[in-house]
Amino acid sequence: MVRVAVVGYGVIGQRLADGVALQKDMELVGVADVTPTISVRALKDKGMPYALYCAAPGRENGLLDAGIPVSGTLEDLIDKVDIVLDATSAGIGAKNKELYNKKKKKAVFQGGEKNEIVDVFFHGYANYEKGVGKDFLKLTSCNTTGLIRAVDCLDREVGMEKVAITIIRRVADPGDTHRGLTNVLKIDPVPSHQAVDLMTIMPHVPCTGVLVHTPVTHGHIISIVATPKKSISVTAVIDLFKKHPRMMVIKIADGFDSNASLFRYARDLGNPRGDMYEIGVWEEAVALSGKDVIFSINIPQESVVIPETMDAIRAAIPMQKARLEAVGLTNRYLGME
Ligand SMILES: NC(=O)c1ccc[n+]([C@@H]2O[C@H](COP(=O)([O-])OP(=O)(O)OC[C@H]3O[C@@H](n4cnc5c(N)ncnc54)[C@H](O)[C@@H]3O)[C@@H](O)[C@H]2O)c1
Repeated sequence: MVRVAVVGYGVIGQRLADGVALQKDMELVGVADVTPTISVRALKDKGMPYALYCAAPGRENGLLDAGIPVSGTLEDLIDKVDIVLDATSAGIGAKNKELYNKKKKKAVFQGGEKNEIVDVFFHGYANYEKGVGKDFLKLTSCNTTGLIRAVDCLDREVGMEKVAITIIRRVADPGDTHRGLTNVLKIDPVPSHQAVDLMTIMPHVPCTGVLVHTPVTHGHIISIVATPKKSISVTAVIDLFKKHPRMMVIKIADGFDSNASLFRYARDLGNPRGDMYEIGVWEEAVALSGKDVIFSINIPQESVVIPETMDAIRAAIPMQKARLEAVGLTNRYLGME
């Protein structure tokens, strides 16, 4: 059993903790945070399924005063594990890395950290082998994770000449009141970081694109124009996507006409927090323009990076050296076969 800690029990951290708990070859030793946030209070009210450690030295009383049991300090937790999943607010992971280094522990960071702090910028499907045996890995952001899943899927079949993307980005997660009440579409300069990130992980595929922030919370949509090296039919593209365990082909005709319909579907399934690990692809929105393939994907931003983070543990330890064996196990334990 590989022993795992999750540091930062926020939007991503709590989902990582659940993801690790589902892996039959990993043990979640505990989670760490600094204050009694809503998610930490919910953990307590659920009966503390995971032990909580205090990551702010001397601030244990803030947690104890809120009635939250504390199992020890962050250092105590790090001493007990083989690998840390750091899901703290962007930039904190770089500081925490000093402790992981001191304790000689491997760590996996999330998209908000800088690439320079890690050995490998990682994606389970696109560059698993590069992460094998490495100490510090960083996951792609939510949009990039889903984007690379789809582009890698086509690339492995027909090769990719180039890719252009348009990202319609949800501006906040549900509950992010600190982002304010918004009514605006804000545009970023090209290329968006997701296009640059795709080229970092898949350097053989030139990519550029634009990103528009939109005042919604239930999922991003990315519209993709992918130029294949070999021509491919719409049916063949849809069949490839249908075979990918982390993609879900849906139909507008069946009522899946929006990002919100996928969120509702996940809630109706009874998935915790309305989470989905899969990216959605709209079947009726796959088309050809010349030989270019046009399609759109839905990114459930709060849960999409969980499978690839499990892959990162498998690579770093290493638990499996072969990509498909590793992603296959993650998929099985997360119920995505
Ligand atoms: N929210 C998303 O949709 C999303 C998607 C993909 C990746 N990410 C990335 O995941 C990471 C975490 O983002 P999030 O949205 O979960 O943030 P969040 O604010 O919801 O959670 C961060 C948690 O870290 C805790 N924390 C802060 N400082 C800490 C410290 N020193 N030690 C331990 N815990 C500490 C906070 O109290 C909070 O609970 C970021 O790198 C972000 O870029 C976020």
